[in-house]
Amino acid sequence: MKDIACGLIRSSDIGKKITIAGWVDAIRDHGNTFFIDLRDTTGKVQVVTKREEINEGLNQIIKAINKESVLQVIGNVRPRPEGTNNKKLATGEIEVEIDELTILNSAQPLPYHFKDKAKQSVRLKYRYIDLRHPKLQDNIKKRAKVTSETRKYLDSQGFFEIETPMLTKSTPEGARDYLVPSRVHKGKFYALPQSPQLFKQMLMVSGFEKYYQIARCFRDEDLRPERQPEFTQIDLEMSFITQDDIIKVVEGLLQHLFTTVLNKNIKIPFPRMTYKEAMSQFGVDKPDTRYGLQLVEITDLIPKDVSIFKFVFEQKHGIISAIKIEGEGNISNKNFNKWRAYVQKFKTKELANIKLIDKEIKSPLTKYLSEGVIKKIIKRLEAKDGDLIVLAGGKSSNVYRGLGELRIKLANDMNLIPKDQYNFLWVVDFPSFEWSEEEKRWTAMHHPFTSFKEEFLETFQDDPEEVLANAYDIVLNGYELGGGSIRIHNPELQEKVFKVLAIPPEIAEQNFSFLIEALKYGAPPHGGLAIGLDRLVMLMTDEPNIREVIAFPKTKMAILPLGDAPNTVTEDQLDILGIELTTETKLLLEKKEKKDI
Ligand code: AMO
Repeated sequence: MKDIACGLIRSSDIGKKITIAGWVDAIRDHGNTFFIDLRDTTGKVQVVTKREEINEGLNQIIKAINKESVLQVIGNVRPRPEGTNNKKLATGEIEVEIDELTILNSAQPLPYHFKDKAKQSVRLKYRYIDLRHPKLQDNIKKRAKVTSETRKYLDSQGFFEIETPMLTKSTPEGARDYLVPSRVHKGKFYALPQSPQLFKQMLMVSGFEKYYQIARCFRDEDLRPERQPEFTQIDLEMSFITQDDIIKVVEGLLQHLFTTVLNKNIKIPFPRMTYKEAMSQFGVDKPDTRYGLQLVEITDLIPKDVSIFKFVFEQKHGIISAIKIEGEGNISNKNFNKWRAYVQKFKTKELANIKLIDKEIKSPLTKYLSEGVIKKIIKRLEAKDGDLIVLAGGKSSNVYRGLGELRIKLANDMNLIPKDQYNFLWVVDFPSFEWSEEEKRWTAMHHPFTSFKEEFLETFQDDPEEVLANAYDIVLNGYELGGGSIRIHNPELQEKVFKVLAIPPEIAEQNFSFLIEALKYGAPPHGGLAIGLDRLVMLMTDEPNIREVIAFPKTKMAILPLGDAPNTVTEDQLDILGIELTTETKLLLEKKEKKDI
């Protein structure tokens, strides 16, 4: 129905008779001449009625056409009249003079025009219209390019793309599972995969050595701008490798993607930072290194008997840390109190300050700390006249959380984040285990199949807190882009780790016996990593939310407005599955239905 794409017509086509088809982006009525911008997936071109003859019939047809109707035009390419070129448009030097115009489908007035501002719910309900926006079109096309270039790169490195099941058994990736009831085995459920973790390990046992998959993953967790209930990973696993080998493959892949998709040269190898360094200098395990405002620990400078800081020294992992903010020495109390309230949201109880203003030191701390101590703090933070120091004390995790979040807020509020800069970073040496207050047990910081540094082999069961894992995260501009680890390939060690994690033997047996067994039949040393594809494309397209790079995303409440999922099903459907809703659930649904009406 077309022999050339709208956005690809150039001056070299002048004089040619062409057939094009697309959507009406705009119509301009200049008296007896009509201009239509016809748009297709490649861009726009201006089509115009003939100047020399007034064709009343055609003019009447065009007058009645709504925007976004679908047309086919047969016409001649001609140069635009002098002085009317549009430099912003790739087709801006030419126009197409209409010979024949066919309305392939007329559009009713749109419920919402994609270039207008609209509520998220409206945008997602009419996502097929929303997706006509040039930015969204560009995002989705870049995403397609990212997946195709990923395949090209990994294929060239000897990887095999292998699919793993969607209807599977739960793996402990840390979120809740989406469950699918079985009709054949009533009362039993499949879980949708949170990741292909165990299957890719099985593939290593099978001898594939280099696996990858553009894998759909499902996690029933609270949504955030960088989280969706279903998302995609560039998932890979390799055998006979070390951490450095995985890092090298991922760096090569990311460099390839940035060159081929964005035409940007990123420098590899990426810097590496230990988890401990990341936490103590940035307060988070995914530092944004595009700006300063680093945390500086000052615990050792504070005398242990100072009344306001006594509580710090009385607890395990108590620290005092500070941030220097240049040029903010004269901050008002009102503004400072806003920051204080902000850190308090993140469990940091108090925020103190030292103001360096007019060559004087102003601080509520002068009541408690000697001038000598305050001067040492100023020296350590390299603060000068006009600067402000904020500091907080408490349990290290709380201090990091509050100051880490404050650092991000300050950088945003003060416009300190440079645009168009990609700061990649590896965070390595994560702790293996973290204590869960809620569950009163050790949990795996990455996942239970992660190996740890050899020096902890003798002590890991007695002192889990100290153990460092062979786990690594790739971070970009403050986002966790991906994570991975070298796995445990020794079945006895894997069983011992389950014990540390207090996974009851029957649960371990039920869920992981096949893994333990597989590890007994010749499992090679192996490891891997998964990159969040949606997050990667979000950062590559400079979007604030992964929704903008997913064709049909879910809302914050995990609803798919187009088609309206999740939805109720018929009694018959439930019967076949052997499922009955509780009276409570039925009442809840009735109540909701009434509300919706
Ligand atoms: P992990 O759980 O760290 O590791 O996930 C890897 C990456 O997937 C992305 N991601 C998400 N993206 C969007 N929405 C979500 N809800 C979401 N959850 C995670 C992140 C994250 O870094 N099996 C291991 C990998 C391995 O060890 O090889 C895993 O899934 O970008």
